[in-house]
Amino acid sequence: MPAMGNSLRAAALLAFVVLSILVSLLISSVQQFGGRIAHFPNATVAGDEFASLRGALIYQLNERRKEILPLLVPHEDEKELDKPLLDSNLDYSLWNEISQGSRKAHMDELGCDSLVDMQAVEVLGSGYTKLVVKVNLAGGQHVALKLVNEKGIDMGKCVEDFGDPTGCRELVSYKLKKEIVLLQRLQHPNVIRLKGHCAGDMGGKGGEGGRVAVILEQGTPLQMIQLLQSPWEDRFRVCLDLVRLLHFLSRSPLGSVGLLDFQPRQFVTVSGSLKLTDLDDASAEETFCHADSDCTLQFPHRNFTLPCSAKGVCEGLSEKRNIYNAYRYFFTYLLPHQAPPGLTHLVDQIMNSTGELKADINQTLEAFEHILHLYKSGLHLDNLPPSIIRDYTTMRGMGTSGNVEYRCWPSYSQQGCVLSVHSAEEAAYICNSHSQCNSFTLSGQKTWTGRLLASFRNSFSHLVPDEMSKVYVKKTKAPEI
Ligand SMILES: Nc1ncnc2c1ncn2[C@@H]1O[C@H](COP(=O)(O)OP(=O)(O)OP(=O)(O)O)[C@@H](O)[C@H]1O
Ligand SMILES: *[C@@H]1O[C@H](CO)[C@@H](O)[C@H](O)[C@H]1NC(C)=O
Ligand SMILES: *[C@@H]1O[C@H](CO)[C@@H](O)[C@H](O)[C@H]1NC(C)=O
Ligand SMILES: *[C@@H]1O[C@H](CO)[C@@H](O)[C@H](O)[C@H]1NC(C)=O
Ligand SMILES: *[C@@H]1O[C@H](CO)[C@@H](O)[C@H](O)[C@H]1NC(C)=O
Repeated sequence: MPAMGNSLRAAALLAFVVLSILVSLLISSVQQFGGRIAHFPNATVAGDEFASLRGALIYQLNERRKEILPLLVPHEDEKELDKPLLDSNLDYSLWNEISQGSRKAHMDELGCDSLVDMQAVEVLGSGYTKLVVKVNLAGGQHVALKLVNEKGIDMGKCVEDFGDPTGCRELVSYKLKKEIVLLQRLQHPNVIRLKGHCAGDMGGKGGEGGRVAVILEQGTPLQMIQLLQSPWEDRFRVCLDLVRLLHFLSRSPLGSVGLLDFQPRQFVTVSGSLKLTDLDDASAEETFCHADSDCTLQFPHRNFTLPCSAKGVCEGLSEKRNIYNAYRYFFTYLLPHQAPPGLTHLVDQIMNSTGELKADINQTLEAFEHILHLYKSGLHLDNLPPSIIRDYTTMRGMGTSGNVEYRCWPSYSQQGCVLSVHSAEEAAYICNSHSQCNSFTLSGQKTWTGRLLASFRNSFSHLVPDEMSKVYVKKTKAPEI
């Protein structure tokens, strides 16, 4: 049977892949691996006890599977969910592709074959459940590979409880399978892109049952500390991306999706753009209620009660939970600090409306997009006299050399003072406010919003030709020309 041949091949490949990753990681002696020793079943456990443990594990496996099946229902049919789930409603082709090997239907997706001769570079991250490895594929692509974290808490606990490493690996890999389904259903610019997967499941038969590798777009784990030290523009971007994501999740193909485990470590950045990478705690389930008091959201410093609708579901519960988590984990740290003076009023309004859950996600997104519009167009700079630039001599097609730089904070460059500006006028305004500043250069480089990068300096020894850039020198300090 060719199908069986394929899955056997996938299983063999995956076993090889996992082995080569483990070997290469051991060689680079990665510390994340910790020192946990695997538990093995007590060989002398009585037969009955073993059977009951096995039964409990199979029960758990079925529970995990039941969690995934509703996600396979095409959304059009969700209205009929009050009917019993019919097998014909389920997207079994998707399920089979996930459990029996890589997806063949879409030629652009990577499968087990693409992992042959890959090179594991380093560990990008690990958590309770998963290990993420930076991998260079033989074809030259750089990807992130998500695997079961063999030394993770999930595996450790399971093996402790059931004493069956193979069964446990299968159980834990259901979280990866759930993530594959969610990544396929929830495609968005702010969700990590699924590039493919490789599964070596053979219906529980054989030693390698349940191994799964998810092939993802490579990102950089979100570094909150580093982000706190970056320019407001970059911090605003992370918050805006998050709000765009939450807007999508509130009316996603799966319904309103709540992120139950909402922490910065569930996100990565790809070229400065925020992307959700950990979806195994995403839930599209509604909360049923009899009264408003059934619809409470509890947080360490704040509780909220939401309305129970006539249909008996808590209205907007996932959406509101997401908004408040965005407020407490992201906005409070990233948004107010050093916001441009012309925008602080609007930023404060967002902080208040999200912190009090007064705005829904549509209104929140609108408020963010409005700030972006003002910031991009420079409309928030209403107090800049155009004449301010007349204090400066302009030299086009010139750059500077022998620079005496000074530092400012938060600068785009470690060595000097590089800030983003809307125009030469805004740069002149900033230069006037820095006592050390005598000149600035607009290099033509732009930030993600399209604002210009301006480099501010104390002085320079001479000018050099540079097509792209313009130098502005304070007239009082301008060299005689
Ligand atoms: N595509 C990616 N590119 C780079 N790093 C990634 C990528 N995906 C995940 N990571 C990193 O790997 C870590 C672990 O991944 P993930 O959050 O999916 O595992 P987990 O076991 O569910 O973690 P947790 O215990 O936090 O829930 C993440 O915190 C993130 O830093
Ligand atoms: C293994 O089984 C033996 C005999 O049943 C028992 O005495 C022992 O405590 C067990 N060990 C563990 C780690 O459970
Ligand atoms: C939130 O509700 C819980 C349970 O009713 C209560 O114990 C807690 O004190 C409340 N917290 C706040 C900040 O009101
Ligand atoms: C929102 O504004 C009100 C009124 O000024 C204030 O009492 C409240 O503490 C603010 N809430 C937050 C979360 O900032
Ligand atoms: C939010 O916006 C979407 C379109 O983006 C719209 O379909 C939906 O009705 C809006 N929800 C509310 C509560 O206004």
